[in-house]
Amino acid sequence: MTHPRRTTYWDYIHVEDLLSLQGGLPEDIADPSNDEVLFITVHQVFELWFQLVLRELNSARDLFGRDLVQEQELSGAVASLRRISTILAVAADHFRVMETLPTREYLEFRKKLMPASGGQSAQMRQIEILFGLDDRDRVPLGDKDWHMNILREADGSEGPAYKRVAGQMEDGPSLRDAIDSWLLRTPIDGVAHEDPDADVALERFISRYLAAHQGEVEANLEYSKSIMEGDAAHENLEDRYRWEAKSAEKFLRPSEDEGGARIARIRAAMIFIETYRELPLLAWPREVLNELVRVEQRFLIFRQRHARMVERVIGSRTGTGGSEGVKYLDETALRYRIFRDLWAVRTLMIRPGATPKLERPEFYGFRSDG
Ligand code: HEM
Repeated sequence: MTHPRRTTYWDYIHVEDLLSLQGGLPEDIADPSNDEVLFITVHQVFELWFQLVLRELNSARDLFGRDLVQEQELSGAVASLRRISTILAVAADHFRVMETLPTREYLEFRKKLMPASGGQSAQMRQIEILFGLDDRDRVPLGDKDWHMNILREADGSEGPAYKRVAGQMEDGPSLRDAIDSWLLRTPIDGVAHEDPDADVALERFISRYLAAHQGEVEANLEYSKSIMEGDAAHENLEDRYRWEAKSAEKFLRPSEDEGGARIARIRAAMIFIETYRELPLLAWPREVLNELVRVEQRFLIFRQRHARMVERVIGSRTGTGGSEGVKYLDETALRYRIFRDLWAVRTLMIRPGATPKLERPEFYGFRSDG
């Protein structure tokens, strides 16, 4: 007779396996120092977090990649995004543990790592690709395929790391593309995107929004001028505020090169959702946009936190992977933005009292008793 399984902690968590993985390079005869075990362990902990981030990213991407996303499913996507940003925040804090590694003790074993580098973290690359980082935006580190070539085995062959990332590149769409296709279908002013009147409704919303925005910019400019003195200060303010008005126009009326009508609709949807977020049908979409910005913010902070830890431990020396070290890392933190438009929307938002009146609030589940 078979007994029901009496599960133990060690079998379920694979504790013995897990604790046997910090031995360092197989050819090393001496046991690694405490510092080296710390170095290996912290990297392993990160890789485990990355694995979870990838799972959640995949779920969110799969949802938004579908042709129809039900409102009630959005809470699941929001939960995935929240989990990702929480993991990234906690993981960034782990760099504090890494900082207990003094420079000289690190130098003791650093040479044998070369040319290995965190740049060979296949899961990190997968995360970037799945989010939607464009290869053209990468900070170059050698030839154009450097980020793939460093994933090759020592003999140049394509091992597991290379295959993981190559597989990820085949597995579209990215989260950003999936979100774009979802946003594209957002009804604007109660008119669905496949409706024959969709373009008219979109244009009406854009021109009314831009007019309201322009009014706010002018009012803010006048107010700023009234509380600041001097011609130079006024000229400066005029330049600044005119730039705001111009960039709003450019954002909502992109040229054909920038994506034309398709991008205009996606951007208008972002603004529409943010502006009328108190309407029941827009509450969850707005949470999605909010969580996307939060995830990206955490990711940027993660990159910056890594760079500061690196600076503290190795200063500005060359990385084991051959990059300019901290300079390269700071550049990635500045350049790697995925949801640029969601950030740009922050510059364009206007206060509730100045927003154009919604054409059909009832379409979004809003009932007025009056
Ligand atoms: C003392 C500890 C560490 C030092 C000195 C360090 C240093 C560096 C340097 C200099 C680079 C640039 C590439 C190169 O030239 O090698 C890099 C890249 C990277 N490191 Fe670290 N690192 C440390 C710990 C960690 C940890 C714990 C993680 C967690 C997984 C990590 C993840 C990464 C990743 C993902 C990259 C690639 C970044 C990119 O290309 O965008 N590093 N690291």
